[in-house]
Amino acid sequence: MRQFKPEKLFKPRDFIKPELTDNCYLEIGAGRGLHAVQFTQANPDKQLIAIERTRVKFEDFAKRAKTDALNNLAPIHADAIPWVVHGLPPASLNGVFLLYPNPEPKNAAQRWLNMPFFEFLLSRLKPGAKIILATNIQDYFEEAKQQAEQLWKLPFEAFEVDQNSKRTHFEIKYLARGETCYQLEVTKPENYLTRFNDWLSEET
Ligand SMILES: C[S@@+](CC[C@H](N)C(=O)[O-])C[C@H]1O[C@@H](n2cnc3c(N)ncnc32)[C@H](O)[C@@H]1O
Repeated sequence: MRQFKPEKLFKPRDFIKPELTDNCYLEIGAGRGLHAVQFTQANPDKQLIAIERTRVKFEDFAKRAKTDALNNLAPIHADAIPWVVHGLPPASLNGVFLLYPNPEPKNAAQRWLNMPFFEFLLSRLKPGAKIILATNIQDYFEEAKQQAEQLWKLPFEAFEVDQNSKRTHFEIKYLARGETCYQLEVTKPENYLTRFNDWLSEET
């Protein structure tokens, strides 16, 4: 796998340096923001930075977040990859949500655990923090488990999502169709080394 090169990524347009708390979580691909709003409502002591790239979905999300006026939720309209590079210092996250990412059937290199960026994402996690990935695609799930174990050498738990779960619009749709949804939770061990443990953008 080629190596991730954070120094090659420009700061996203209109980038604002985030104010991070000690209890910060990240959601990538937040869609219309259902999980982000539910999570921050249920966990007022936790901060969530929730990033969505698609404008139409983000506008819906921003409206929902404004109505609920949650001061622990930061909705961000950006591509998460450059945003994470410029916005987060090493070991700053208590957890990451990747809920129903695009399956990328024709482009395996774009699936999260196959991407060189995944190493950078791991460097932003605190030891003991988890990345939670949910998908309705069994092949995606199996491949992600294999990558967690063989490539990234990470401990993980894997299970089926409860049929009554309603965290995101996509989850609701898939479970209503009677599909099985899968969840993978990888944990960053203590003393886990990445090439980016000390890498810091000038912005952070
Ligand atoms: C299949 S949708 C799922 C949305 C939501 N999580 C749900 O379950 O309802 C995947 C979302 O991830 C977003 N996405 C994919 N890559 C992204 C990236 N690099 N940065 C931010 N958002 C991204 C897409 O725009 C899309 O809205």
